[in-house]
Amino acid sequence: MKILVTGGTGYIGSHTVVELQKEGFDVIIVDNLSNSYANVVDKIEQISGIRPIFEKFDLTDIEKTNDFFNRHSDLDGIIHFAAFKAVGESVNDPLMYYRNNIGSLVNILENMRIHKIANLVFSSSCTVYGQPEVLPVSEESPILMAMSPYGNTKQISEEIITDTSSVTNVKAILLRYFNPIGAHETALIGELPLGVPNNLVPFITQTAIGIREQLSVFGSDYNTPDGTAIRDYIHVVDLAQAHVVAVERMINNKGKKDVEIFNLGTGNGFSVLEVINSFEKVSGEKLNYKIVDRRAGDIEIVYADTTFANDELGWKAKKSLDEMMLSSWNWEKALAEKS
Ligand code: NAD
Ligand code: WQD
Repeated sequence: MKILVTGGTGYIGSHTVVELQKEGFDVIIVDNLSNSYANVVDKIEQISGIRPIFEKFDLTDIEKTNDFFNRHSDLDGIIHFAAFKAVGESVNDPLMYYRNNIGSLVNILENMRIHKIANLVFSSSCTVYGQPEVLPVSEESPILMAMSPYGNTKQISEEIITDTSSVTNVKAILLRYFNPIGAHETALIGELPLGVPNNLVPFITQTAIGIREQLSVFGSDYNTPDGTAIRDYIHVVDLAQAHVVAVERMINNKGKKDVEIFNLGTGNGFSVLEVINSFEKVSGEKLNYKIVDRRAGDIEIVYADTTFANDELGWKAKKSLDEMMLSSWNWEKALAEKS
């Protein structure tokens, strides 16, 4: 079985390639390396013992994309990770986000239609729910108006896939990730944030290793037990395994609808201070942090209802917050050793 993984040298993509290879899939990676490095392919090979095929090009380039599909029209499935993902950057340059995230998706769907490739797994986000009124948030929760152009690309992409599916051979599973963190147990692959991280966990580990001076905890006056905001953090390897299950479900025609949607989280919410405490416990490091004002645009609390993913996909996130924080810390230390 041959699977195309777009964005396969990126953070979630690289972990998914490893999990696919473990299950015996042949993997082809397409990535333009706009937010990742070619040596990730070597690291994947080191972990799995199998070198995935890698083609470097931009999926918004229709000629290159068409040429790729002309050579690989026998794909059994596509997992589409390739996208830009920085919320703040998308506010400052919305067109770059619409061009990249929507353009690449349209080019892929066009080729799926032409070459009769049926199965698409798409990276969506819990950002589509905004601040839900009912918690935990299920797949039936209303989609609120997007709070950023990035979030809007996910909403629009879900609609484009659904519209296309209704008139073509394309079937899809839309996976709405909560907050992916952690790294592979080998510390050979992980998240490589460019510049100053926006996300909590890379900021924590970079502060502890000495790259950043101090972590700012954004807000302590939320309506939560310790006043800091709550999220559903999920280990990237758990997340990666869900993609394998999703692709197998599609290939085996087990889907109940042409487009299915699943939340991927643990179902547990943790506050910023709980994340910091877990980090300090597993690393033995004292973290330099201070409480500051809320960050604009942040929501108070969100965590997943995972019942549907657990029951229908037969998948459940297994790793604890401590395991997530330890693997993130080991990854940060491995990066420091290299530099
Ligand atoms: P990432 O930036 O590490 O990986 C994305 C990869 O896609 C990168 O390697 C990049 O070089 C590549 N890419 C981007 N545009 C491309 C293009 N036009 N052509 C070819 N390659 C291109 O990001 P990630 O964290 O692994 O996220 C993967 C997917 O999951 C994205 O769609 C993202 O929006 C989604 N997602 C991520 C999170 C998160 O917190 N990390 C949460 C929810 C959803
Ligand atoms: C988590 C918590 C912050 C940094 C973002 C995107 C979302 C999704 C995942 C892709 C919040 C707090 C953070 C810091 C802090 N991505 N924090 N100090 O905001 O839940 O979601 O990434 O789809 O679309 O918006 O994740 O890691 O940025 O923040 O106190 O330096 O940590 O306020 O409560 P978020 P995050």
